[in-house]
Amino acid sequence: MSTENTNTESILKRAPAPFEPKIMAFVCNWCTYAGADLAGTGRMEYKPNVRIIKLPCTGRIDPLFILKAFDNGADGVLVSGCHPGDCHYTTGNYHARRRWIGFKNLMEFTGIDTARVHFSWISASEAIKWVDLINNVTDKIAEMGPFTEYKELKKVKNG
Ligand code: FES
Repeated sequence: MSTENTNTESILKRAPAPFEPKIMAFVCNWCTYAGADLAGTGRMEYKPNVRIIKLPCTGRIDPLFILKAFDNGADGVLVSGCHPGDCHYTTGNYHARRRWIGFKNLMEFTGIDTARVHFSWISASEAIKWVDLINNVTDKIAEMGPFTEYKELKKVKNG
C-alpha cells in the first residue's frame, strides 16, 4: 500500500510541470488598470500569469518596451487602454494603435510571431472583459508554448 503511494508520488515528481506562460501587460492608468482593479475589488478570479505595468496612457508605450519584455523572458505581451475616443489625453490610444501597426510589420519582418502580442481596449467598468481577456490570452499563449524562437534570435544577434 505504502509502495503504491510512493510510486505515485515519484511518478508525479518526475512528470514535467505544465507550461505556465509569463505575460507582461502594459496598461493605461485611467481605463484598463481601473478595470483590472475593479476585477480585484470584485474578487473575480483569473489566471495568475499576467504581470501588469501601469502607464499614464497607451500613447506612452514604446515598442522597445515590448521587445524588452520578451528579452526578459515574457512569452506574451498585452497592451490595453481606453477605448478609441475615450483616451484621457485625447489621442494617445490612436498614436498607440498607429505605432502598433508599424511595429507589427517590423515583427513580421524579423520573424517574431505577432500572435504573441495582444492589443485591446478595456474601460474602467469592464472588469469582466479584463478577466475574459486574461484567461483567453493565457490559454492562447500556453497553447503556443514558451517563446523559444526569441531566445534563438538573441543567440543569432549575439553571435
Ligand atoms: Fe487610457 Fe490614453 S489615457 S489610453
